[in-house]
Amino acid sequence: LWTMENFAQEQIAAIKEQVGDRRVLCALSGGVDSSVAATLVHQAIGDKLTCIFVDHGLLRKNEGDQVEAIFKNRFNMNFIRVNCEDRFLGKLAGVSDPEQKRKIIGTEFIRVFEEESGKLNDIDFLLQGTIYPDVIESGTKNAAVIKSHHNVGGLPDDVDFELIEPLRNLFKDEVRAVGEEIGLDHDLVWRQPFPGPGLAIRVMGDVTKEKLEILRDADFVFRDEIAKAGLDEEIWQYFAVLPGNRSVGVMGDERTYDYTIGLRAVTSVDGMTSDWARIPYDVLENISTRIVNEVKHVSRIVYDITSKPPSTIEWE
Ligand code: XMP
Repeated sequence: LWTMENFAQEQIAAIKEQVGDRRVLCALSGGVDSSVAATLVHQAIGDKLTCIFVDHGLLRKNEGDQVEAIFKNRFNMNFIRVNCEDRFLGKLAGVSDPEQKRKIIGTEFIRVFEEESGKLNDIDFLLQGTIYPDVIESGTKNAAVIKSHHNVGGLPDDVDFELIEPLRNLFKDEVRAVGEEIGLDHDLVWRQPFPGPGLAIRVMGDVTKEKLEILRDADFVFRDEIAKAGLDEEIWQYFAVLPGNRSVGVMGDERTYDYTIGLRAVTSVDGMTSDWARIPYDVLENISTRIVNEVKHVSRIVYDITSKPPSTIEWE
């Protein structure tokens, strides 16, 4: 009988057997796949697993701390958080082309991971959260690259480690079920997809600390209101973007000239196609009022009503 409980127990036994006394390294992003993979392996071999979490400074509000709280403090994993916001922002300074931004982040991510893993001794295995759709996708030669997808966690090909990929036969919903089975938080297991390059591709044009801060605060309000409205599990992805233009407004007697925030919310089955989510007007109104009141330098909110195709889910 194939159940999630059996699957988890069998994988844990198999990993124990395969790894023995040796050591495993994992690039943990805090996303569903790497989180489930790391937790499964941790239950099999405990301290022989080391996780490296590269915090590139492009995560959502409080996200880095939440990942640390779960894996380091609660699960007591060997957990190395590398804070490199300045390093990534330095590399991104003045760069506004989306593909260029993705490449810089992907390259820098690998460099940081190599530097950190180079400090560790006796690593034999590399754990990857590869799931079945990744296996299919990399097997099909898709000539037209629409966007280069740097899955943070995508690592160099020339490493000496043996790969462990406990989730490679599972679909996303099965990964989630395994995650719940082995005791991961419901919120984490049901997290919406988040791109590897993070908020850098949600700030149009060049990325600065100031713009990231505005975007992060607006995105936080948006997510909070969607959760309060009970819509968080029916909408596939919902996030704020900062188009970077400013527009004229009025607050009190003052003329303002501040940023616009775009709201993107889509329904989808697999991210390949999507429709814009029909969020009720009163929820949109709360979101708009709160963002303008709570986030400095934002004076206009727009809602994205395009489907994919022709638009993509992300704006870059
Ligand atoms: P698009 O924007 O191409 O996105 O419609 C489809 C899905 O992929 C996610 N996405 C990414 N995921 N690295 C990732 O790991 C990336 O570079 C990346 N770009 C887009 C996007 O959030 C959506 O779920």
